[in-house]
Amino acid sequence: MHSTTLLSLLTVAAAANAACTPPTNQLPATGAVKCPVVFDGRVKTASQLSDFDSASTSIFNPDYVKGQNLKWSQILQFPEAAGNAHFDDTTYKPFEVTLSDASIFQTQRGFRRAGLQFKGDTNNGSPGTTGVKTIHFSIKLDPQRALNLSHEYLLVWHESAAYDANQFNFEAGAILGQGSLPKDTYKVLDRSNKQIWSTPILKDTWQNFAVTLDFNKNTLQVYYSKGDEPLKSATSAVSNNNAGEGQYQVGMLKKPTGTSDVVNSGYQESNLNEGLIYGSLFVEDSANGCVSV
Ligand SMILES: *[C@@H]1O[C@H](CO)[C@@H](O)[C@H](O)[C@H]1NC(C)=O
Repeated sequence: MHSTTLLSLLTVAAAANAACTPPTNQLPATGAVKCPVVFDGRVKTASQLSDFDSASTSIFNPDYVKGQNLKWSQILQFPEAAGNAHFDDTTYKPFEVTLSDASIFQTQRGFRRAGLQFKGDTNNGSPGTTGVKTIHFSIKLDPQRALNLSHEYLLVWHESAAYDANQFNFEAGAILGQGSLPKDTYKVLDRSNKQIWSTPILKDTWQNFAVTLDFNKNTLQVYYSKGDEPLKSATSAVSNNNAGEGQYQVGMLKKPTGTSDVVNSGYQESNLNEGLIYGSLFVEDSANGCVSV
């Protein structure tokens, strides 16, 4: 090729590249998924909010778990400035789950909730509840939609098929009945609601988490990193009762204050406008100890 032609082509390429060069906090993330993906909650860059309203286009259950008068396209946002999370290469983008006064699921007037379920994660017989599975998720705060950490928030959890227990809860805020735990941490609670790990909630940076559930050995293990660093194990595989099947849920369930009946009553402030940004969301098969970092 003629050198001036090559040069001009390179110049054009560089200009095109510069035109779509994102701000520094949007450099492509570097995490590589190395294990088979069982449920993929990573959102393609071309996705539209309306895709989440229909089973034919959503990667999640379009009908659950949310205020019945809301569509997912009203609950979710695509935050422009969040940058990509650790396992979201340039073909994926982050999404934000929001809560408002209308975030009342069925008759559960005590909670404000919006929880995503993966497509194919059935309450009984799900591939998410056999063998060894790891759920990955990254979280970033939205300063425009701050949480009120005087409340207890479930952010990622696995609920049994009988709806009588959560095998684990990933939470933030003030845990009801456990006032000795600081509010301003992310925490992993086991099936008996005992904290097994926590880390401070950071501003302006992605925090990356993974929870491995071994359904054969009845253990759970937590992994963590911040920014775009590789995940490291944050706990050993601790004993936990993972029985009872059920489903993963990702989003927000905000408990009320001032009640012993958290499902149905208690205090929630009005004109609620809260949100949390998610990315790098997927469940992988961790047979033979495979965990992406
Ligand atoms: C945060 O929640 C507490 C407990 O419900 C409440 O007293 C307080 O007013 C809330 N703060 C804001 C800013 O709404």
